[in-house]
Amino acid sequence: MEQITKQIVSKFQEMFGAPPALVVRAPGRVNLIGEHTDYNDGFVLPLAIERAVWLALRPRADSVVQVHSLDFGETAVFDLNALQHSGDHWSEYVKGVAWALADAGYALHGWDGVMAGDVPVGAGLSSSAALELATARAFMALAKAPWQAAAMARLSQRAENKWVGVNCGIMDQMIVAAGQAGHALLIDCRSLATELVPLPEGTAVVILDTGTRRGLVDSAYNERRAQCETAAAFFSVPALRDVSPDEFAARAHGLDETTRKRARHVITENERTLAAAAAMRRNDAVALGALMDASHASLRDDFAVTNEALNTMVTISRRQPGCYGARMTGAGFGGCAVALVAAAQAEAFAQTAAAQYQGETGLQPQIYISAATDGAAVVV
Ligand code: GLA
Repeated sequence: MEQITKQIVSKFQEMFGAPPALVVRAPGRVNLIGEHTDYNDGFVLPLAIERAVWLALRPRADSVVQVHSLDFGETAVFDLNALQHSGDHWSEYVKGVAWALADAGYALHGWDGVMAGDVPVGAGLSSSAALELATARAFMALAKAPWQAAAMARLSQRAENKWVGVNCGIMDQMIVAAGQAGHALLIDCRSLATELVPLPEGTAVVILDTGTRRGLVDSAYNERRAQCETAAAFFSVPALRDVSPDEFAARAHGLDETTRKRARHVITENERTLAAAAAMRRNDAVALGALMDASHASLRDDFAVTNEALNTMVTISRRQPGCYGARMTGAGFGGCAVALVAAAQAEAFAQTAAAQYQGETGLQPQIYISAATDGAAVVV
């Protein structure tokens, strides 16, 4: 049993005087390529990571949910029949998912639970989606309902959009709900059709946390979304997904410069993401790495969502031996970069990149080498 599972099971025993009935796990995620494409109905290629949220629980006879967070050292209690906001609290994610499930007609049982996780909060590795999908998995397991990844992802996204008030796309919830060990997932964010894509043989995914955090992110994220909508309206299509590179080239001169650059990022990023999946299918790490490099340039120059720390981390990563490619990952403005590295060189890569980054920026990075894991699941 993993260390965190042991801790929550022992806390559960202490709080409730009996062992839990089950333990669910929902992972964080890292996106290999396909950034700021999800809310344009485009393509993304993320994978679920080893870091995760674990939740031990047992059903209650009533409609109360009582959940203790080991990380926050707090217990939240709420009644499923009287859901109310109570400010800016971690339990709003749990409540929001309960609200979205109930609103969609699911019959929900109350439960007692203890949770803990090791996805760093605010680093761009989707600790929120992990918490949401752990909650959804718990409710579905207690209802003995089958796991419907896409439906649960949509409802968790709805919880985040409408209950928590964060205007995210579908990528994070979908990969956390549907990830599979050893694979990245090519997601069509319009249909939610998915295709498992294996990681190139002999490569490792390295996550490099710059130690910088996105400030003012909601406004910048929402501004990018609005710019993409303006561009889609200009092309008279529902979303930028529907604009081909040729059509863009023929008509883009009619857009103002900023909107043109934002749209160019999305349209080229969709192409790169499909090309990346094709490269992975033919086991071509070199081509995948080059596409990751190009994605970063586009996010830096056209979409303008990198910061200096991310650019520095990516530059340092690329000059290390064994690195195929590197880019920022997630929303941007801070947080993490991701690099594709020859597995045999990954440890050395992590150490040297960390030391050089610290030397150049004075910031303390965190570096994680992670296998691709399963999405939300009952593990005990
Ligand atoms: C955040 C959002 C996602 C996606 C990415 C950018 O992680 O939650 O929906 O838009 O940014 O690709």
